[in-house]
Amino acid sequence: MQPNNAVPEGNAEKSNTYAGRRISVAPMMDWTDRHCRVFHRHITKHTWLYTEMVTTGALVYGDVERHLRFNDEEHPVALQLGGSDPKDLATSAKLGEKWGYDEINLNCGCPSERVQKGAFGACLMAEPELVRDCVKAMRDAVSIDVTVKHRIGIDETESYDFVRDFVGTVADAGCTTFIVHARNAILKGLSPKENREIPPLKYEYAYRLKRDFPQFEILINGGIKTEAEIDEHLRHVDGVMLGREAYHNPYLMATFDSKYYGDTAPVKNREEVLRAMMPYIAAQLAKEGGRGLKLNTITRHMLGLMQGLHGARQFRQTLSDSKRLAAGDPGLLLEALPK
Ligand SMILES: Cc1cc2nc3c(=O)[nH]c(=O)nc-3n(C[C@H](O)[C@H](O)[C@H](O)COP(=O)(O)O)c2cc1C
Repeated sequence: MQPNNAVPEGNAEKSNTYAGRRISVAPMMDWTDRHCRVFHRHITKHTWLYTEMVTTGALVYGDVERHLRFNDEEHPVALQLGGSDPKDLATSAKLGEKWGYDEINLNCGCPSERVQKGAFGACLMAEPELVRDCVKAMRDAVSIDVTVKHRIGIDETESYDFVRDFVGTVADAGCTTFIVHARNAILKGLSPKENREIPPLKYEYAYRLKRDFPQFEILINGGIKTEAEIDEHLRHVDGVMLGREAYHNPYLMATFDSKYYGDTAPVKNREEVLRAMMPYIAAQLAKEGGRGLKLNTITRHMLGLMQGLHGARQFRQTLSDSKRLAAGDPGLLLEALPK
């Protein structure tokens, strides 16, 4: 995808429909890169996808193309930004719009110490006025949706009022979509991984946000794994964001288009998904193999495709065999297929 000066036709309309974000795949560093997103698109056409977090520093001072390029078939796709300087965020959001993203999302949920040093991520929840100013600067700069992903509290905050006031303040900048990872972030003493497991989930806080701000789009995130759980959450909020389960068990998403978006087009079976990835992989290797792109760069995202099937382990093992991967032959995918 090359940058263009106009938002691609239809995107403004697409990005403004709540139905679009009914189900989404969470931004995940090192996981939801452009190859992963293409793979997910072969399973579900409508589920809303997010990039990994891209910092404003990477865009203002770094290699913009490396961070922002993506494939046309990834739409609808949102760019997640990490930063806390309104001016840099506005510049980065503008770049995101120019490159054709459907939404700009601000990360106010990441607890990593590296991110805290940059004074962004979850620690921004302690500064709702700054987040409001950041959102305002981005909204003034772009015409696509600007959304915020956040936690329900930081450190020992227990009170619901904290997240209610955060949302209320940020909404003053015109933000109407909030993605609520329904647990606290512990800023000191827990690793990012522990921060996704140890603080208790309080889904009720997200439900209350929807009750208190019925005019806003509230999406819930955290620990959601099954369709039954998704259905239960959708009784209370507008959308559900899946992170680890979507990554480790991606074929779960095969029913989403028909069930949540009313698209009854035939669904690819797992082998068809795998075969559909082969021309993409071959093209990417031909284009970027010389620049260091390896077969494994793409296939590593596909290890969970056979999850739950007899032969899933063998599939993962074949696709993790460094010697065979080194040969760079996409045909390895067919060899890995469970018999
Ligand atoms: C490997 C990994 C990387 C992550 N990177 C980000 C990130 O860049 N930005 C972000 O907002 N959240 C990030 N998260 C958090 C997820 O977006 C999500 O909020 C969290 O995993 C909880 O959802 P889940 O229980 O469905 O996985 C990451 C999670 C994982 C597992």
